[in-house]
Amino acid sequence: MRLFLLVMLVGLSEAGHRRRPSEKSHKRIVGGERASIKKSAFVLSLTRLPLHPNSKSEHICGASIIKRYWALTAAHCLFKEVITGISKDEVILHGNSTSLSIRDRNKIQHKISGYYVHSKFNSRTLNNDIAILGVKDPFDGLFEKPIPMPPYTYVYKEESLAQAFGWGRTIPNRLGVSPSLRKVKLILLESLTCQWMFRVRKIFGVEITSNMFCVGGVFDKDTCQGDSGGPLTQNGKLIGIVSWGGDCASYHFPGVYTKVAVYDRWINQLLDKQGTRSQNYKS
Ligand SMILES: *[C@@H]1O[C@H](CO)[C@@H](O)[C@H](O)[C@H]1NC(C)=O
Repeated sequence: MRLFLLVMLVGLSEAGHRRRPSEKSHKRIVGGERASIKKSAFVLSLTRLPLHPNSKSEHICGASIIKRYWALTAAHCLFKEVITGISKDEVILHGNSTSLSIRDRNKIQHKISGYYVHSKFNSRTLNNDIAILGVKDPFDGLFEKPIPMPPYTYVYKEESLAQAFGWGRTIPNRLGVSPSLRKVKLILLESLTCQWMFRVRKIFGVEITSNMFCVGGVFDKDTCQGDSGGPLTQNGKLIGIVSWGGDCASYHFPGVYTKVAVYDRWINQLLDKQGTRSQNYKS
């Protein structure tokens, strides 16, 4: 009951860029440490441009550079409501910077040329929570470097360590994001255990599909609101995208991530035939 209430309160006070199934909250870094873009040059901020002349731009999600012109994020980051996707002109990607501050002169802004949302993305279950963003100007900054993706056969080993990066909130129930990039070490969980962890807390209707995996188990460390769409890395590879979870940094609720290896072919096929820009590219 506490979770529902909490999620609802957080949901109401949060900017409306995310679809939030009532029994889940989208994911989000708690308990981590400072990170530098110099050592994690693949990390990007997906920022929404000001809606009105007197409002500010707003960090909405993380993303990762996968190719010179392409970045990977969570599909749910591109949806304001259930159906209407964000327009590519409403958002930009920021790279080459540890800080979210608008005064940071190193920051490079990339306009979006368009995006692919996975055709089987389900905004309710968050299955296939993955999207590719194209940029008009390439990621050529000193600290803008692609991160390799895992092959389809990559083994997501239970209890192995991984690292998440993001500007998401550092205290679970406080609004706002971290002005500086942070990282946290986390542990991979077995999916059945993960499913069970939700079930024993009476959170039903949650399915850990084969396109997802769970991370958690470390006391008060987690990803949190604002980290969605950002990277989870292991052995220098982008193995996960921050997707959803229960409460941030709760002993009972693991974080759930998009299993990037599953999309090896989806990503490569789309990007290989880029010359012809296939139909579902929203530009
Ligand atoms: C990127 O950031 C570095 C400092 O962190 C800076 O020297 C460089 O000029 C910035 N811009 C580009 C285009 O690399």
